[in-house]
Amino acid sequence: MAVRSRNKTKTGSDDAAGIRKGRFREGMDPVFARFNASISFDKRLFEQDIQGSIAHVKMLAAERIIPESDGLAIEQGLQEVLADYRRGEFTFREELEDVHINIEEALKAKIGDIAGKLHTARSRNDQVVLDLRLYAREKNEQVRADLAALMAAIVQKAEESIDLIVPGYTHLQRAQPVRLAHHLMAYFQMLMRDLDRFRGSLFRADEMPLGSAALAGTTFPINREYVAGILGFSRPTANSMDAVSDRDFVLEFLFNSSMVMMHLSRLAEELILWSSSEYGYCTLPDAYCSGSSIMPQKKNPDACELVRGKTGRVYGDLVALLTTAKALPLTYNKDLQEDKEPFFDAADTVLGSLKIMAGLVPSIEFNAKRMYEAASDPSLAATDLADRLTREGVPFREAHAKIGALVRAESTKKGKTPRDFPNPEAMVEARDHIGGTARERVMEQINAAKMFLTSLEGPPREPKTSRKRKG
Ligand code: ARG
Repeated sequence: MAVRSRNKTKTGSDDAAGIRKGRFREGMDPVFARFNASISFDKRLFEQDIQGSIAHVKMLAAERIIPESDGLAIEQGLQEVLADYRRGEFTFREELEDVHINIEEALKAKIGDIAGKLHTARSRNDQVVLDLRLYAREKNEQVRADLAALMAAIVQKAEESIDLIVPGYTHLQRAQPVRLAHHLMAYFQMLMRDLDRFRGSLFRADEMPLGSAALAGTTFPINREYVAGILGFSRPTANSMDAVSDRDFVLEFLFNSSMVMMHLSRLAEELILWSSSEYGYCTLPDAYCSGSSIMPQKKNPDACELVRGKTGRVYGDLVALLTTAKALPLTYNKDLQEDKEPFFDAADTVLGSLKIMAGLVPSIEFNAKRMYEAASDPSLAATDLADRLTREGVPFREAHAKIGALVRAESTKKGKTPRDFPNPEAMVEARDHIGGTARERVMEQINAAKMFLTSLEGPPREPKTSRKRKG
């Protein structure tokens, strides 16, 4: 067999970790090596990768697939590699492609060739998806905690401002007066659904893929339940081919995050509008605003604008990965390396945005007078006047037309309000049913919200997958 000259080798460590050792005659093109490498971003999975490897090696030793002493040496070595990393003393090498090979090589430098036994019954395909599932679980928990913190801030603000009345809008036109607390609690409902979605996704992400190996499983007598148990997963994945190519749990995280961002963007937008001179309903805390470089009078709602703006990038992350996953043949394809950057970006963005909003909401100052004046706009009484006629027996459609004409006539006489028009308090109090804006009903929402938040502090409940049928 002809031995090719080494100057064909284009990168220094093409045979690093031995993955090119047997099969290849030429080194990697240096431009391709860069293109191929994921270490610049998958280094984020360092801790998860070590955690997964320790669980794997414990199983290999327990099942006598490798000698117990080798298992202990590998585990010990991995702990040392982790300690180096935590001290900031780990050197990442791009020529080692990704976090998995970087760690394996560092382990080899510590304990020698025994390190090579770690990859028994494993492939990077099941390894990387395990790391991602561990990461998803952690981020899911953080997002739920941050959602709960923002929800708590909203409830508190609502309770504080229970007596403030503001116009409610449809089509951004003043419609009917509502309690400010009712308006704020609408956001609580959105975020509560978001929290529930993250909880539901966690249930589906809770499967342990290791043992799937490259795609078909492994010839070694592995114990997947044991590994799942060590890592705190409920069950091993059911199909090795699905397991190495499934990124649904990442996509769910991206969708759930998009939904959160959409909700936050709505809240942000309203705060931007409400803090403008045109509305004047609130003042945003200085700590979350910026000045203008040219106009001394300006106080700009940058934090809210950024939350609104970053929504687009999280949608982009979702669409990017959906598109990457589209039409991929089974099983693992390198395309899937593109899952990480959108995932990390969305996680950072949604967590950052939730923290900003949770910090900002408690310090919003509402201008009660300005809101009340706007809510006292007599045209806002139109529905209630039509309802009054309807109670007297006039069909609602007819009442609607009569009051409409009256409002048109009144709007021409400036500043005059007929004496028997209902005031804003009377109008909000009249909507006294579940989900209405009467004081008592909004307090009911607030109390239910507080109970919900308290229930989160208890042990996590399994999301319900099926409803029990009676009888
Ligand atoms: N860096 C790779 C990724 O993120 C790890 C898996 C590589 N697997 C392979 N067969 N090349 O997807």
